[in-house]
Amino acid sequence: MTDHSALLSGLSPARFLTDHWQKKPLLVRNALPGFTTPISPDELAGLACEEEVESRIVLERDGPQPWALENGPFDEDRFASLPETHWTLLVQECNKYLPELATLLTSFNFIPNWRVDDVMVSYAPEHGSVGPHMDQYDVFLIQGLGRRRWQISTDPVADDNVIPGLDLRIMHDFQPTDEWILEPGDMLYLPPGVAHYGVALDDCMTFSVGFRTPTVSELLIGFLDEIASGLNDHQRYHDPDLPLQAHPGEITAGARTRVRRIIRDAMADDDAIDQWFGRYITESKSGQTAVPPEQPLSSDKFLQQLHASGTLCRSEYARFSFIDDGADEMTLFVDGQCWPQSRALAKPVALLCDRREIAASDFGTALDDEQFVQLLSQLYNSGYVELPQDGEP
Ligand code: SIN
Ligand code: CO
Repeated sequence: MTDHSALLSGLSPARFLTDHWQKKPLLVRNALPGFTTPISPDELAGLACEEEVESRIVLERDGPQPWALENGPFDEDRFASLPETHWTLLVQECNKYLPELATLLTSFNFIPNWRVDDVMVSYAPEHGSVGPHMDQYDVFLIQGLGRRRWQISTDPVADDNVIPGLDLRIMHDFQPTDEWILEPGDMLYLPPGVAHYGVALDDCMTFSVGFRTPTVSELLIGFLDEIASGLNDHQRYHDPDLPLQAHPGEITAGARTRVRRIIRDAMADDDAIDQWFGRYITESKSGQTAVPPEQPLSSDKFLQQLHASGTLCRSEYARFSFIDDGADEMTLFVDGQCWPQSRALAKPVALLCDRREIAASDFGTALDDEQFVQLLSQLYNSGYVELPQDGEP
């Protein structure tokens, strides 16, 4: 069982889940005492110039119209030509690029890691904002540099409350119900659907820990797509017992029953749904995947090097989760693939999914188990786990 004490100061995980998660906002002053940005505004701009990094600039003025959106990657020159105030740079998935932000995610271990999307970092000079809007996902907004005034509205947002003609969804009518000024280390939690409007009061960086919420349509399409791809053209509607019917134009009860049965049977296998979901939810959304090591290792060699390194680190490019439904086997899911395991390995497999960094000694006697070491070496050879050398994180 993971110890959830002392994660975020002033926040009781159990009470947070009961009273706030997916329900109502929460402001936590000094949730991360001493938290300062691990990346400077210039370094963030540098990231936004890189090809594989997803970034945006939102300009409130000096764009082609009020509230203009530009998508990265950017040329370095773009930053030199930005106005003094009223703009924001936003960079997604910074937990992949900055180990400090991957570590920050461990503070949120009281929420299942498959629900976590990424850490987005924004920089804004004075008056920078992305406008009043609402998001469809839960978010923790952590102040990392300077001050930001956050206004929120817990009133429902009408579908048509949006400024027309923009590439961004910004509300035309926003009446705040609460307002706070956040300083470094302060954190604001917002459930989906709560309108919010943050404005930088000075040079300001905000770290947004955002969560994944697949839509019902994504879940259905994803699952049915997989089922359909496993079928062939010979498997189709058939009615060898077709009775003579009064009206050729009628879709009879018998035909409807056959169609319903085809659809219900496809959905009936709980195990198939679980296995599909484990793969689906650990897939990389951006398509970026872990890089395998230049030198693959045999199981024996891997074990030697694990002992020498003393630590195993998970790659931020791979998502790890497991399903243990009490049967003989459990399933480890990594980066959209499944790795069935004996339940005898339940503890070390859970450890692998719970922590980003694991001391070799924490695996205990599991390292005497050939199968487990083979699993670890396969994960290593795929780039999903790494062995830091001396001095590396
Ligand atoms: C920001 O960091 O400026 C925007 C974050 C948000 O509103 O979701
Ligand atoms: Co938002």
